[in-house]
Amino acid sequence: MLPSKWQNYVAIFALCAFKTTCLDTFIAAVYEHAVIIPSEDLKPVNQEQALNLMNRNMDILEQAIISAANQGAHIIVTPEYGISGFFSDRLSIYPFLEDIPHPQVNWTPCTDNNRFGRTPVQERLSCMARSNSIYVVANMVDRKACDPTVAKCPPNGYYQYNTNVVYDSEGKLVARYYKKYMLMKEFQFDTLLDTELVTFNTTFGKFGILTGFDILFHDPAVILVEKLQVDTIVLPVAWMINLPHLYPTAFHAAWAMGMRVNLLVANIHNTVNQMTGSGIYTPESPKAYYLDMNSENGTLLLSQLDSHPKPPPPVNWSSYANSIEPFSTEQNEFKTSVVFDKFTFKELINETGNYTVCQNTLCCYLSYKMSEKRADEVYVLGAFDGLHIAEEDYYVQICTLLKCLTTMLETCGQPAENASTLFDMFSLSGTFDSQYVFPEMLLSGNQIAWEFEVLNDGRIVNKNGTSGPLLMVTLFGRQYEKNKPKNASVDLEYALLMRIITMVFVLYSAVW
Ligand SMILES: *[C@@H]1O[C@H](CO)[C@@H](O)[C@H](O)[C@H]1NC(C)=O
Ligand SMILES: *[C@@H]1O[C@H](CO)[C@@H](O)[C@H](O)[C@H]1NC(C)=O
Ligand SMILES: *[C@@H]1O[C@H](CO)[C@@H](O)[C@H](O)[C@H]1NC(C)=O
Ligand SMILES: *[C@@H]1O[C@H](CO)[C@@H](O)[C@H](O)[C@H]1NC(C)=O
Ligand SMILES: *[C@@H]1O[C@H](CO)[C@@H](O)[C@H](O)[C@H]1NC(C)=O
Ligand SMILES: *[C@@H]1O[C@H](CO)[C@@H](O)[C@H](O)[C@H]1NC(C)=O
Repeated sequence: MLPSKWQNYVAIFALCAFKTTCLDTFIAAVYEHAVIIPSEDLKPVNQEQALNLMNRNMDILEQAIISAANQGAHIIVTPEYGISGFFSDRLSIYPFLEDIPHPQVNWTPCTDNNRFGRTPVQERLSCMARSNSIYVVANMVDRKACDPTVAKCPPNGYYQYNTNVVYDSEGKLVARYYKKYMLMKEFQFDTLLDTELVTFNTTFGKFGILTGFDILFHDPAVILVEKLQVDTIVLPVAWMINLPHLYPTAFHAAWAMGMRVNLLVANIHNTVNQMTGSGIYTPESPKAYYLDMNSENGTLLLSQLDSHPKPPPPVNWSSYANSIEPFSTEQNEFKTSVVFDKFTFKELINETGNYTVCQNTLCCYLSYKMSEKRADEVYVLGAFDGLHIAEEDYYVQICTLLKCLTTMLETCGQPAENASTLFDMFSLSGTFDSQYVFPEMLLSGNQIAWEFEVLNDGRIVNKNGTSGPLLMVTLFGRQYEKNKPKNASVDLEYALLMRIITMVFVLYSAVW
């Protein structure tokens, strides 16, 4: 056993001895919140209006917290932007800001409300946790004054951070985390230069905190799991339906499995911006999830989880693929873009077959049997090994079995929702460089599914057939060590160009 794991047990023992007994299991809640956003001409311009809006959102969150507590939940996670709504620029945030102190000050805002100036949101969150005896995870905006004559200090004289706060069941502030990886729309926030590793200990395990796309990067996500050995990660997000490979429920379920931790994801429910998809995931399987583009309602999910999940045996993600010879290479290859990433594809011609597709150093292997080969549907095996550029730059290696949108090969990789083809079996694997590989699966209607077994030689295998027509099976590998491209200037220029194109798309589709 690793020394750090021992330390965890010692700390948890102390915590448990002090309060009640340690819990082997706990009840987790996540709330997908249909956030109230004011229309463009009614944007709050002063603190009173901003607080008014935030209270309307907190009224709804409070109902969810009460309901979760009544059903025995020990912790509830609420979404990113769930209190404030979205911001279009730096200045519009001003009336929403509160100074959030470091948890080491040992503060329960509910009972000690004037200690750090004007803090109505923190007080209300703390009271909701305290009066319902439940841990509350929420997202708000912190303000930290700086000296405007210092070069890095923004001209308005303070940093503003996209911040998660956690209150324990007595209302004490136990964690504060600043989001690290901003997407292109989030110029309005500052970030710390150093990586913050924020955890909190409970009688039901050790928790780590991330926000949104932080989950795609090494620091702090992988450090929390591997070095600090957290049992559960809480993740407030405002995550769009990104098909095919970053579809929220499918990707989050895959990450929990690949990283071998519990993961609690609370998303905004805002169908105009295509944001929906929350869940409670464990290393073995998703326990509860919600994703609905046809409803305007928020949803509370609850599930009982192991406080210390026992991870399945380790997987060597390249072992099988490295041990075999490529299948026949006579089939025709073609390339098309999946969200700007140029995949190499081969069409699955027959009802049954064995295929190999390679790109750079990645070779993907597929054996499959369909229940019938339909003339009106095309499936492909694809490989991508390179820099993904759409919302952020990061290196990935992806092996994917995809249904194409239509029978025209150039539509492969465009979001497909429906399919009719059942598979009797499949086995997918790849020569991944990375041990961080996340297995995903979607059935027709974008239903996430878990109808495969991960063998410890790195194959994902379905032997008994799919319960519905298949849309996607993917092994999503992250190459964290290649995160900072230095000599890739051509790549980066291309990335920048694509980023601008993406931004134009997003500006057209978003309301803020
Ligand atoms: C949780 O316990 C660990 C292990 O001793 C300790 O190092 C850490 O500081 C504790 N974390 C918090 C936030 O109390
Ligand atoms: C959604 O909310 C509306 C209004 O609050 C309610 O009438 C409706 O029954 C809800 N739908 C579902 C599926 O819960
Ligand atoms: C995975 O398996 C391959 C081939 O069997 C081996 O070369 C490699 O060292 C293994 N990797 C790990 C991390 O064990
Ligand atoms: C598909 O089946 C036909 C007929 O059995 C065979 O000739 C052909 O080689 C197969 N193609 C592939 C790509 O397996
Ligand atoms: C695929 O490979 C398996 C063994 O690796 C073999 O049994 C099967 O016949 C092959 N299928 C086709 C269609 O070539
Ligand atoms: C998928 O199927 C549903 C229900 O049959 C239908 O309403 C929807 O339009 C289909 N979507 C596409 C993209 O074909």
